[in-house]
Parts: sequence; structure tokens; C-alpha cells
Amino acid sequence: MQFHEIDTPALLIDLARMEQNISQMADFARQKGVDLRPHTKTHKCPEIAKMQVTAGAVGITCAKISEAETMAAEGLNDILIANEIIGTKKINHLIELAKKVRLCLAVDSEFGAKSLNQALEQADQTLEVVIEINCGQNRAGVLPGGPAHELARIIADCSHLKLRGLMTHGGHSYNEISKEGIEEVGIHEGTVMVQTANLLRQNGISAKTVSTGSTPTAYYCGAVEGVTEIRPGTYVFYDLTQTELFACSPQDCALSVLATVTSIPAADRVIVDAGKKAMTSDPRGRAGQNGGFGYIPEKDVTISKLSEEHGVIETDSKFEIGEKVRIIPNHACVVVNMFDEMHGIRNGQVEKVFRIEGRGKML
Ligand SMILES: Cc1ncc(COP(=O)(O)O)c(C=O)c1O
Repeated sequence: MQFHEIDTPALLIDLARMEQNISQMADFARQKGVDLRPHTKTHKCPEIAKMQVTAGAVGITCAKISEAETMAAEGLNDILIANEIIGTKKINHLIELAKKVRLCLAVDSEFGAKSLNQALEQADQTLEVVIEINCGQNRAGVLPGGPAHELARIIADCSHLKLRGLMTHGGHSYNEISKEGIEEVGIHEGTVMVQTANLLRQNGISAKTVSTGSTPTAYYCGAVEGVTEIRPGTYVFYDLTQTELFACSPQDCALSVLATVTSIPAADRVIVDAGKKAMTSDPRGRAGQNGGFGYIPEKDVTISKLSEEHGVIETDSKFEIGEKVRIIPNHACVVVNMFDEMHGIRNGQVEKVFRIEGRGKML
């Protein structure tokens, strides 16, 4: 089937671009001697996770226990949940999953460590954990240095936890406006993590893994001596935001939303059938400063505004009702979560349909 025969709105993957993105990051990790553990929240698709593993990834990263369960059910057997999990029900799922696959969880509090340890003790099971460090994003995570050491000592006293090392996410790179700024965030991300791991080691605490990375910073923190693992996610598809963060060019963007022109109600207004429920409301780049809700490369126009089911393009460029257009989204990860499947395209033909098995997994 030709891609323009697909009903819209629909998600398309340019297979050649995705394969190139997957192999470029895997090659970088190989060259630098670091493990690649891609974050699968971008595609939520076990088949694509397997392609990343085949290309050289040591395992995968998930954000949620339900995502991890979905991946494990399809054969992914080395999973880091790079997020805190709190609550008996979810911890019970975690304990069950840890019986089947190599699993590791992020911890950033005494409460988190002790409640997990207690549940593991009752189940007579052990689990590997990494301490999440806040390297500047100011989201979750303990501060590097002393606070990380303090939590490491608490974990060392937990009979059923085994400390694998440290993890962080340089998400504040998304606020930077220059390539140099992103490089600085990436180098700092790697450096504080290595320093903190060394502090633990000097105090007799084993911290083998030093896990860092976002898509914008992966190439910088991955090159810092002592970093052992990178966890970019968005690189698999890239998106408009990544083009603004100097991580890729528009030609590298593998994911697009196929939409149909449904109305041209005025000479300067074109309507497509991809609104917020396809594109999401996520802004483009740093706090949306460049505006727009998706870019159509063939026409060189941006979606100006969205309502739930309508994308509005304020343009006098030539469009025709019924015409299909491909829109590169601002943020690939959230757009994927709106669809059940993605159509893999090569040379204009649908080669493969990928089910987004992890779509909507909230727990
Ligand atoms: C903990 C963690 N690790 C890795 C990533 C991957 O980063 P990116 O989306 O920039 O590839 C994310 C993204 O949200 C994350 O939260």
C-alpha cells in the first residue's frame, strides 16, 4: 500500500531514517565504550526496542512499571525503570517482574528505599537499584556529593537492595539556547556523576554504573571519562524540538503525522484533520518560543494553532482539499502516546505496521 492511501490522522515512520538514528547512537556508544540503554518511552513499542537491542543496546529504560511489563512480555529482558516507584500495588508488580527479567529501579529517598526493602524482604527477593541524582534539572533525585552518599549508606543497610550505581537525566539541557550551553550541561552532567560515584567508592560503597543522558546531551556526557551508560530516548525519531536543540536536522526526523486537508475556508487558512488529539499541545523547543504545533517540510509551513480535531495553518501557500500532508511533531514521545499504531514507510510504501503496545500504560 502507498502511504497516502492510509486513513488520517495516522503516524508514519520513515524506516530508513529511524534505522540510521538507531545505528548512529549505537555506533557512538560503541566508540566511547559506554553502554546504551535507550529510553523506550519515545516509541512505547517492543518491536522497536528489539531493533535497538539488535543494534547494540545492552537493555532498555522505561518510565513506568506497566511499560516495563509490556516490554518484558515481548522478550525485552534487561530493564531499568528510571523513575521512583511508590505504593504497595506497584511494588508487588515490580517484585513479580523481577522474577522474570533483569530489573533495576531508581530510588531517591529513604522512604522509597526502605519501603521497597521491606516488600522485598517479605517476598524473600533482592533487587538492584540506582540512586537518582539531580544534576541540575531540579525534578526528582538527590543532590550529588554528600546527599547521594547519605542515601547510598541507607541503601547499603537495606538487606534486600543491591546498589548498581547512579543515574541522572540532564533534562535542563532543554532550556539551553546555544550548542555550547548544551555541551556544558552534558559535560557537567557526566562530571558530577563520576565525582559522586568516586565519592561512594572512596567510602567503600560499590557504584559500578554511572548512567546519564538525554538526547541533546548524550554525545557530551557519554564522552566523559567514567560515565558507563547513556539513556537517550527521543533520538530514535527525533522531532522539531530536537532540531532546535542542535541534536539533529529536520532531515533526521523519522516520525510524522499524516493528515488530510479537510477545508480551505479562506484564502489564507487551511484546515487539516490533526488537532490536539493527534499533535498534542506540547510547544516547540525551549518553552515554545518558536511557536507552532508541527512543521510540514514539503510546503515549508507550520501549523499555527490547534483545536481538538483541527489543525489550522495560516498560509497563502497552495493546498487542495483532500490532499495529504506529513507533519513533523514538536515532541515525538507524547504524539506516539495518542496512537495505536505506526506505519513504517520505505520508498513511499507501507512496509510494516508497528503496534504501540505501551500506549496509555499509566501505572
Ligand atoms: C529519566 C530519563 N532518562 C532518559 C530520558 C531520555 O531523554 P530524551 O527524551 O531527551 O531522549 C528521559 C526523558 O524524559 C528521562 O526522563
